This record gives sequence, structure tokens and C-alpha cells, in this order.
Amino acid sequence: MLLLKNFNKLLCIIIFLFFTSHISALTRDSIILEDSYFTENSKKLKIERFEAISPLYKIKKNYDGYYLKDIFKFKNIDILKLDVVTFEAKDGFKISIPASFINENNPFLSIRDTSLANGKNWEEVKDGGRIIDGGPYYLMWDLKKYKVPENYWAFGVVKILFQSFKETYGESIPENTSNKKIMQGFQIYQSSCSGCHSVNLVGGTLGLEMNVPKNFTEYLSKKFIISYSKSPSSYRANAKMPPQHFLTVNEINLVISYLEAMKFNKICNTDDSCQKITLKK
Ligand code: HEC
Repeated sequence: MLLLKNFNKLLCIIIFLFFTSHISALTRDSIILEDSYFTENSKKLKIERFEAISPLYKIKKNYDGYYLKDIFKFKNIDILKLDVVTFEAKDGFKISIPASFINENNPFLSIRDTSLANGKNWEEVKDGGRIIDGGPYYLMWDLKKYKVPENYWAFGVVKILFQSFKETYGESIPENTSNKKIMQGFQIYQSSCSGCHSVNLVGGTLGLEMNVPKNFTEYLSKKFIISYSKSPSSYRANAKMPPQHFLTVNEINLVISYLEAMKFNKICNTDDSCQKITLKK
């Protein structure tokens, strides 16, 4: 009897915990990064210093900012309860990173380059065919310890989203999830291409849609996709796409396998029907 009573109590606690964790997940499914986000009832998150050679600035620099783990702690966000964390940038770049990867590698969210004078926070640089800067927030990783996909170094971050795997990747998930080659390609596409490109209208908006109404592989040759990925500016002056020099030809071929699979899995087939879906988003 005593056991039963305790069991009921335990069940109530579990249900309650589930319920509250659900509420907090709902109220925090995205955060807009304003200065006020790091302040709470006159308490402020402490600013740390971080040294990095970023893909954007390419030389060793010191930055002020916050460790993501400290931000989550400050805001009572349990990273272990999340599937994926998505970082959205001001230019339409959008990268989704597995929560487990963030938990293991503890990235840093920089708010300013400490080497600049006159109250300037960020320096402008030429990147492909664009002039850009790292701000307002630049997600950085400790290269001494970890191997990190270049696209995980997200600059210009303005928003962080917390969603499930399904919500994050939605219609870009391939149908045949048991095919190893397709799934490997999907994973490489996610970490290397989806920041800018979209498949079935899921992904970044800086690059081009790759699947609807026409799939890349329906009008571009494999040879072109590989060669363009390696060196966009050999085809187009001022290409905005950076060369994907960190990917091997085999890895780009896997991305192509994923794209080829997606052409049988389109969410729309005409400009009209695709626009309707875009407008709904
Ligand atoms: C930083 C953003 C960015 C990333 C990352 C990126 N692209 Fe691109 N891509 C673009 C943009 C923007 C264009 C349009 C042309 C241009 O400005 O380069 C483009 C164009 C292309 C084209 C030419 C398409 C055509 O119709 O001419 C191919 C092929 C391509 N991307 C493949 C890839 C693949 C494969 C990956 C991942 C391995 C990738 N891109 C990653 C931004 C990006």
C-alpha cells in the first residue's frame, strides 16, 4: 500500500516534470539575440574572452562574448532535452547543429572583436562576392580541440531556434532513411550546403533551392555540381558561394546521391504550388 502511494506520488512528479519541461520548451522555442537577453533582474551574464582563427577573419584574434553553455545555464535551458539548435543569420544563412554536438564542443558566441578602436565591434571583409562582417553575433569553436564543419562557424547570427529533428529538417528528410549512402549525403548536405541552400524549401535562403520545382540533378551534370562546388568563382565572377575545399569529391558525390533521391520526393512541382508553400512559411 505504501509502495502504491509512493508510486502515485512519483507518477505525479513525473507527469508534472514532463508538463513543465514541455511548457518551457514551448515558451523558449526561439530566442532573438538582443543585448537584453543577457540581463535578468539586474543580473548580467559575465562576458568572457576567446581566442580564435575564424574562417571569416583568418588570423588569430581575441573576442568578447559568452560560452553557449553559460547562456543556456543562465536561461535554464537544458541542452540535453533538445534535438537540434538552429542559428539564423541576418543574411538568410541558417545552420542546424545537433544539440549533442553543441553539448560536447561548447561553442562561444562572440559579441565583439577586441582589437578594434573607436567603439567598433566588427570589421568588414570581402567574402566571395560580398562585403560582410561577423556581427552582431558570431558562433565560434575551439579549433585546438575539435574538428568542426566550416558552416558551424555561423556569423551574423540574430536568432537561435530550438526544435525537434522533425521540425528542423521536415520535408528535406529523405524518404528512405535506411539507405546509408543517401543518409550520409543528407548529413553532409546538412552541415555543408543547407546553411545557404534549401531542399523542398527547408534550409537557408542565401543560396538556391535544390529540389523544387526542378531538382539540381535534373538540369545540372554531376561533373558541373562537383566542379562548381570546388570553385564557384571559376564559373561566375563575384560568386557568393565560397569554395567547398574541405569536402572531398567522394563527399560531394554523396550529396549528389541525396539530391538524386529527393527528386522522387518533391513537395511541389510548379512555380505556383511552390510559391503557395513559401508564402505559408
Ligand atoms: C555560404 C553559402 C553557400 C554554401 C554553404 C553553399 N552554397 Fe552553393 N550557392 C550559393 C549561392 C549564393 C549560389 C548562387 C551563385 C553564387 O553566387 O555562387 C550557389 C550556387 C550553387 C550551384 C550552382 C547552381 C546553378 O544552377 O548554377 C551549385 C551546383 C551549388 N551551389 C552547390 C552547392 C553544394 C553542393 C553545396 C554544399 C556542399 C553548396 N552549394 C554550399 C551559396 C552557397
